[in-house]
Amino acid sequence: MPAVRATNLYKVFGRRAPKAVELLSDGRHRDQIKELDVTAAVIDVSFEVEPGEIFVVMGLSGSGKSTLIRMLNGLLPPTSGSVEIDGSDITKLSSRNLRAVRSEKISMVFQHFALFPHRTVLENAAYGLEVRGIAREERHQKAMHALSLVGLGGWENHVPQQLSGGMQQRVGLARALTADTDIILMDEAFSALDPLIRRDMQAQLLELQATLGKTIVFITHDLNEAMRLGDRICVLRDGRVAQIGTAEEILNDPANDYVAQFVEDVDRTRVLTASSVMEPPIPVINPGHGPRAALRTIRENQTTVAFVVQRDRRLVGLVSENAIGEAVRTGAADLNGTVETTIERVHPDTPIAELFQQAATSPYPLAVVDDEGRLVGVIPRITLLAALAPPENGEGEAAQGEQEADPPSEEPPPADEPRTDEQNEEETR
Ligand SMILES: Nc1ncnc2c1ncn2[C@@H]1O[C@H](COP(=O)(O)OP(=O)(O)O)[C@@H](O)[C@H]1O
Ligand SMILES: [Mg+2]
Repeated sequence: MPAVRATNLYKVFGRRAPKAVELLSDGRHRDQIKELDVTAAVIDVSFEVEPGEIFVVMGLSGSGKSTLIRMLNGLLPPTSGSVEIDGSDITKLSSRNLRAVRSEKISMVFQHFALFPHRTVLENAAYGLEVRGIAREERHQKAMHALSLVGLGGWENHVPQQLSGGMQQRVGLARALTADTDIILMDEAFSALDPLIRRDMQAQLLELQATLGKTIVFITHDLNEAMRLGDRICVLRDGRVAQIGTAEEILNDPANDYVAQFVEDVDRTRVLTASSVMEPPIPVINPGHGPRAALRTIRENQTTVAFVVQRDRRLVGLVSENAIGEAVRTGAADLNGTVETTIERVHPDTPIAELFQQAATSPYPLAVVDDEGRLVGVIPRITLLAALAPPENGEGEAAQGEQEADPPSEEPPPADEPRTDEQNEEETR
C-alpha cells in the first residue's frame, strides 16, 4: 500500500470552481478558463508515494506545489479528487479524525522555519509532541535525541534567534523527527538557505533518511536539489503533472519539450550514477578455472580482462590477458597468483562525477560492486566519457559530420542490433 496516494486531485480557488474542474478535466489549460474568474492551482494530479521514498515535487513558482502539499496533509480540502494516507481517504474524515491523522502520521517542515521565537530550541523541537499531549519528560527526551541526530546537541537551551539560518532549519527538521511520524512533508524547506549550507542540509537529510526510512514529500523549485534528493520527481507545470520519474528517466527521456528545456543545464555527472552507465560484466570466470580455460574465455569475448567472481557473484578480482598468457606459458595449474585483487571498486549509487579520478588511474574497467560485494557491472573508461553527452547531441551534429565523410549506404547498422556471424563474414570478404 502506498503511504500517500493522490488521485485526480484538483484545487480551484473561486466561486465557479466546480465548473472550472469540468472544463479542466476536458483538457483545457488554466489560461483558457479565465472567464470563470477562478485560480486553478492544482489540476488533475495523481501519484503514489511508496513508504520510505523521497518523492520530490518540482515546479516553478506558482505551479501549485504549496497548494498540493496542503491538500496532502489535510489543511486544504480538494475541490475534487482524493488523498489517501496509508490507504485511508482523508478527504472523507471528520475534522476530529483528520486532526488525529495530521498529528500522528504527518509532520511539516516549512521554508521559514516556523519556530516560536521565545521558546528554547528544545521546546521548539518538542512542539509536535506537546500538541499531542505527551508528558514533558518524554517529549523532552525525544526532542533531545532528535536534536542530536541533526547535529544540534548542546544547543537545547538557546532560543532560535541565537542560531544561524541553517541551524534554525535543523530545529524544524528535529521537530519533525521528534514527532516521529512516518510521513514528513517539506515545503521549500532548504530554499531560504545559502547554497553551501543548503548542500549540507541536503546531505544530512539523505544521511538521516538512510537510517530512518521516512516517507518524504519534498517540494522545491530547484532542479538540482530535486535530482539530488528525489527517488522520484514529479514535475509540475501550471498546476498539472508534466512528468513523474527518476532523475535519470527525466534526464534521459523527458516527456515533452518543457521538461527537456528544464533539464538542459543539469550537471549530468552529478545525477547519473555508476549503475546508470555500467555495462554487463562480461566475461566473468570462476576462481576454480584453470589458466587455459580463462584465456579461452577472454579471447572468445575479445576483451583483455576477465573478472573473477565466486558462485554467488562476489567479486574476487580480475585477470588480464597478459598475466594469464604468462601463466599458461609457465604451465601454472590454477589462477592463484594471477588474479589481481586490489582493483578499483565503486558502488552502484556513486555519481559518475566521482568516478573520473578512479577511472583515470586504473588501467582496467571499474568494477561496480553492491553492498554484498557482488559484481553487478563494469565501467570501461570510454563508457564513462560517452555518458557525458546528452542523448540527442550524441546523434545530432556529430552524426552529420560523419555522413559527409561516408556515403549513407555504408552506414553501419545500429549498435543495439546484434550482428550475425554472416554479417561479420560479409564484411571481412
Ligand atoms: N488561498 C488562495 N486563494 C487564491 N489563490 C491561491 C490561493 N493559494 C494559492 N493560490 C494561487 O494558486 C497558484 C499556485 O500557488 P502555490 O500553490 O502557492 O504555488 P507554488 O507553491 O508552486 O509557488 C498561484 O497562482 C497562487 O496565486
Ligand atoms: Mg510554494
